[in-house]
Amino acid sequence: MCGIVGYVGKESAQEVILQGLEKLEYRGYDSAGIAILEDGVIKSDKFKGRLSVLSDYLNDHPISGSLGIGHTRWATHGAPSDENSHPHLNKESTIAVVHNGIIENYVSLKEELIAKGYEFKSQTDTEVIVHLLDSIYEGDLLEAVNKLTKLIRGAYAIGVVCSKNPGEMVAVRNESPLIVGLGKDENFIASDIPALLKYTRDVCILENGETVHLTPEKVTIYSKDHEIVQREKFTVDWDVESASKGGYDYFMLKEIHEQPTAIRETLLRRLDENGKIKLDDIKLTKEDLEKITKVYIVACGTAYNAGLIGRYAIEKFAQIPVEPDIASEFRYREPFIDQNTLLIVISQSGETLDTLAAIREAKRKGARILSITNVVGSSVARESDDVFYTWAGPEVAVASTKAYTTQITALYMIALDLALTKGTITEEFYFDTINKMKELPEKVERILENAEDIKKIAEDIKDSQSAFYLGRGLDYQTAMEGALKLKEISYIHTEAFAAGELKHGTIALIEDGTPVIAIAGQESLYEKMLSNIQEVKARGAYVISIAKESKKEIEAQSDRVIYVPDVDDILAPVLTAVPTQLIAYYTSLIKGNDVDKPRNLAKSVTVE
Ligand code: M6R
Repeated sequence: MCGIVGYVGKESAQEVILQGLEKLEYRGYDSAGIAILEDGVIKSDKFKGRLSVLSDYLNDHPISGSLGIGHTRWATHGAPSDENSHPHLNKESTIAVVHNGIIENYVSLKEELIAKGYEFKSQTDTEVIVHLLDSIYEGDLLEAVNKLTKLIRGAYAIGVVCSKNPGEMVAVRNESPLIVGLGKDENFIASDIPALLKYTRDVCILENGETVHLTPEKVTIYSKDHEIVQREKFTVDWDVESASKGGYDYFMLKEIHEQPTAIRETLLRRLDENGKIKLDDIKLTKEDLEKITKVYIVACGTAYNAGLIGRYAIEKFAQIPVEPDIASEFRYREPFIDQNTLLIVISQSGETLDTLAAIREAKRKGARILSITNVVGSSVARESDDVFYTWAGPEVAVASTKAYTTQITALYMIALDLALTKGTITEEFYFDTINKMKELPEKVERILENAEDIKKIAEDIKDSQSAFYLGRGLDYQTAMEGALKLKEISYIHTEAFAAGELKHGTIALIEDGTPVIAIAGQESLYEKMLSNIQEVKARGAYVISIAKESKKEIEAQSDRVIYVPDVDDILAPVLTAVPTQLIAYYTSLIKGNDVDKPRNLAKSVTVE
């Protein structure tokens, strides 16, 4: 959840690290710090608050030097404070450490270190790392880190510098992501690629358990058993611009507007010259499918909500029963998994620890893993048997938008492919559905043309204590995603209800003026949805409906209506999601919240 950048070279480490951390603020932003070797002495500054607090300070008090590490934090152990910020240093300030992850056995390690006379300045688990290193260091930094990994347990990406080893940096990774950037007379470490794009496009990904030793001239990767590993570098082919705001006020708005392109790319890049879906990295044959008796879809947050839509599509097209589950629950409920189970996992980042843990549990029991992810080479991709990459491009805003609609697109494609392989749909239906999917990007563009109108709705709901989303069938799944989006960035308490379930209890919550956002995008359930809208309206709700443009009669029952272009029911979630994203965006904006970095959250959730 935190962001790490390290530099060893000839340039200003301060500049490289600050530039890199700026690109990693999505990983954590409650404090930031830096440690640089200046004239043989480690100088470190760290502050609670956004990265700008640190960079403003360093503007006035620069640190020179060409070796250093930096960190943006998302607090786990210990509240955000200057003391709990990274880097952590040993008593003599000869060793500095940054860490992303959780050291699970830190309590016992801390007790042992205190017994040996070490004094702790912070409440973090990370501080044990630096004191442990201090206690085992004998002049060789790499050797000390190797010994360290035998003592600590948990998820970590760690970067270390030591004033007694000038011109060297050592890093190690287990579960938490870490990449190495390769330059000319300079090398880097970082939690994610965008941090390094200004300086290099040549990167290597560290595998779990691997350690890396870096000097300006050389990078050496070691396996868990300390054998040298030959790792192919790869060249990043996307540009810095696609990972920056490109004229929009916030990444979230930019990413909402990128959806037509992202959906188009996700679809078209996987259609062959005959317009058929080609799933190159998915090798499920008819025989494989016949053996499958159980399909789970497992993910977290927005990716889970996309999975709920995927369930409908796979059940409808391929007639295979599917059970969706939240990754953090799945692994602890002893699900029925064997060699005939297919586990479909969805993760934008490909690094979500709960999702990875579900993969590992299912794999251990023999399941086949098919993942949908946005990040090439991510842990989820590498640990799966089959991978479907979405083509959303980097998603930076914490609130997921284009990842969601491309995940749904991917799930439709997988469902159609499975169905055709199984023979549960005709070729005519298959091509007809693909043709209708090709129209989705243009239909999303039409919704976005009226994006500004949604500002008025945001004005109406911004002061509400709570709000509700209603829907039936697929609209209920969209309601769940809409509610998550609104609550996570506007901080308005928002719940999603299955509209038919209202009368069983929840309608008691409706009072005069309660905002209710009713999604009425399913033709087959439209009449029933109108009745549910009347039920809440009769109890004083302020109703904002999202409906297909041919359904004008809904205006009579609603205070406001947002229209989306007409589309088949099964594809409607791609369109109805867009107004919900805009409602959340503008409400957060009007309330003066930090849209891209909502409180208490981080983009990449690499802790349990
Ligand atoms: O990277 P992932 O798709 O695995 O992330 C899963 C969730 O943490 C993520 O979708 C989260 O719910 C978003 N902040 C919601 O907007």
